[in-house]
Amino acid sequence: MKVEMEDVDDSTLCDSVSSLVEGCRLPVHMKGTSDWPLAEIVSIKDLDGLKVYYVHYVDFNKRLDEWVTEQSLDTRKVHFPRKDAAPGTGVSTPKKVQIGSGISNSGQVSRPASPVSTNSELLNGNAVLAAALQKKINRSVILNRKRKGPSLEGEDSQDGPPSQQSAATGGPRQSGSMVSHHDDIVTRMKNIEMIEIGPHRVRPWYFAPYPQEMVHLACIYICEFCLKYRKSRKCLERHLIKCNLRHPPGNEIYRKDNISFFEIDGRKNKVYAQNLCLLAKLFLDHKTLYYDTDPFLFYVMTVFDHRGFHIVGYFSKEKESTEDYNVACILTLPPYQRKGYGKLLIEFSYELSKFEGKTGSPEKPLSDLGLLSYRSYWAQTILEILLSAKPIGENEKAQITINEICELTSIKKEDVISTLQNLNLINYYKGQYIITLSKEIIQQHYKAMETRQIRIDSKALHWTPKDWGKRAKW
Ligand code: ACO
Ligand code: ZN
Repeated sequence: MKVEMEDVDDSTLCDSVSSLVEGCRLPVHMKGTSDWPLAEIVSIKDLDGLKVYYVHYVDFNKRLDEWVTEQSLDTRKVHFPRKDAAPGTGVSTPKKVQIGSGISNSGQVSRPASPVSTNSELLNGNAVLAAALQKKINRSVILNRKRKGPSLEGEDSQDGPPSQQSAATGGPRQSGSMVSHHDDIVTRMKNIEMIEIGPHRVRPWYFAPYPQEMVHLACIYICEFCLKYRKSRKCLERHLIKCNLRHPPGNEIYRKDNISFFEIDGRKNKVYAQNLCLLAKLFLDHKTLYYDTDPFLFYVMTVFDHRGFHIVGYFSKEKESTEDYNVACILTLPPYQRKGYGKLLIEFSYELSKFEGKTGSPEKPLSDLGLLSYRSYWAQTILEILLSAKPIGENEKAQITINEICELTSIKKEDVISTLQNLNLINYYKGQYIITLSKEIIQQHYKAMETRQIRIDSKALHWTPKDWGKRAKW
């Protein structure tokens, strides 16, 4: 009988952890839960005679990856890596959404956190909610794309991102296609333990190419106004005496109540823009813009108090986009997540597109949380328009075209159509497409809008779009 290699079960009873190697897959106890999902060993290291394992939970987002000890490994059924496969290359499943952001407002680390309020509910809720959210995402496979920015020479490595020397490895940086297997493993692992920014302590989610001397410290200290980073609190204190910024650089183009937006040119404020990208990379898995910030504008959202304008989040935007992207990267810093600021950033990005008289769309691929936020924003914005549409005559139904929805919202046509389809609103009736809004949908919408308290007020935006195409160089 001929046996295909693919059909052979490569799981082996492994009585000793000593035979475990990078690339092995086995059930691992996920911290803070009672679950033992399948995980892949990304790296193994010896810590004062104790072996520790960096694991990636195969069906979960990388931000849940963690170091575990032997006790967390179930070695009864280990899948050893196939000889022809590099570790990590077999992972192609859609990722589940991590519930919660990993940090509480008080600055205490709470990972993985849960939208439910009590700790006891946190245990199993995590996996259950992750599965539910995965359904919500509708099996969208989020593809990882790697884009390497061109190098930056002559930067002050203390105050900006590391230059040609690879921050990850300490060795020379390699081109995108030539990234060695070792570099690949390094960039798959979180390298910063903790950051302190303003009053917040935040545990990062992903790798970021901070310089080698910043990596593996217990904490790095970031100035919340200029975003420069320091090795210790003492060093940051010394910096703060000299640093007189109390808001991001650039122009304040929006102010309403305590919310402001600053527009920063990636060419004019390069070090700030690069430090912002570095900070953002700690929470963004799939975007790799750290060096060449010239072609981008950065819109930083702040909340104001007596101490200054504190960064809450930002989005970047290409000065010129051939693909009609109106957002490149978007981030709400974890202490501020799940409070509606993400939608406010998105709303602002579309407000800019309205001022430009264009439709726009976020750059792809979207992350899991990005997709959730955009889907929710698109659904609410389109439903608002549909519900405000007035019938032309008596006993007539309201009529609106897809193009009109695009014009009113600046949402790109394909996103409008996919949203209407996702909401299951489009029906084909007597030879034409009609949109039917059920009572249930309308009720759900009004309820959701009650919780969306902060909104963008276009009257508070003082901005004229620039035609970057006309300029020879940014
Ligand atoms: N679990 C489940 N749902 C979540 C979570 C979560 N952890 N976080 C946000 N959501 C949902 C919210 O419930 C809300 O939907 P709803 O109103 O229908 O309930 C929606 O997402 C938006 O919530 P906000 O509070 O407005 O958004 P937030 O301030 O949390 O910011 C963002 C969203 C920017 C995506 C944030 O999660 C983030 O910064 N993530 C890390 C970086 C990232 O992934 N950015 C997007 C990459 S794609 C791109 O850059 C184009
Ligand atoms: Zn500073």
